[in-house]
Amino acid sequence: MRQRLVVGNWKLNGSRATNAALLRACVEGADFASPAKVLGVCAPFAYLAQLQEVLGGTAIQYGSQDVSRFASGAFTGEVSAAMVADFGCRLAIVGHSERRALFGDTDEIVAIKFGMAQAVGLTPILCVGESLAEREAGDTEAVVSRQLQAVIAAHGVKSLAKAVVAYEPVWAIGTGKTASPAQAQAVHAFLRGVVAEQDASVASSLPILYGGSVKASNAAELFAQADIDGGLIGGASLVAEDFLAIGRSL
Ligand code: PGA
Repeated sequence: MRQRLVVGNWKLNGSRATNAALLRACVEGADFASPAKVLGVCAPFAYLAQLQEVLGGTAIQYGSQDVSRFASGAFTGEVSAAMVADFGCRLAIVGHSERRALFGDTDEIVAIKFGMAQAVGLTPILCVGESLAEREAGDTEAVVSRQLQAVIAAHGVKSLAKAVVAYEPVWAIGTGKTASPAQAQAVHAFLRGVVAEQDASVASSLPILYGGSVKASNAAELFAQADIDGGLIGGASLVAEDFLAIGRSL
């Protein structure tokens, strides 16, 4: 059985006060969370200590939205994977489309970050996804396969045995436009097939999450698809009852 996960990506949102209320409600409502059905929260670096304080010892896993590609040294403003792990984090998102589009994260940099996360025992959540122009040009499979292959080339297919992939079509992120369950399932099956060509057992145990305007109202149908193992949730993860309802759809 593959692990199933619903992971919140708070992006650049929150304050100590709003986080406290949100996290408390999540802890109270996360009775369904287990090692097989993971509920996770990825917050800004500044709040990792707060995540540890509130979520440490609960069934909710937590982590960061990025890690530095460097381990230590003269890299002002960076936060290393080891620093993230130092707060009891288990998860680290790498290669989110906003990092790729706005902060210069290339496929090669994302692969380095993936390796940095794994080296300290974090589970990287590797995001892949095509833009609207790429989809309309019929390039979806080429784009997501290139993004995935960059990690396989750098770290080997076995590295995916301790990782999560998130398929997030850029045109569906924060737009209210969700990929249809069939559209998402097709890409998930394609991604699993790319891995299976190199290692069938890694492919069958790899959780592949869908992200992009997942809501309480569409989560169950998405998660019912054969190759969709949960979701990476932006906007809806900021509202406890919505986030928990999505988690209960696992
Ligand atoms: P969204 O974001 O749920 O707000 O569309 C998803 C993501 O970017 O991870």
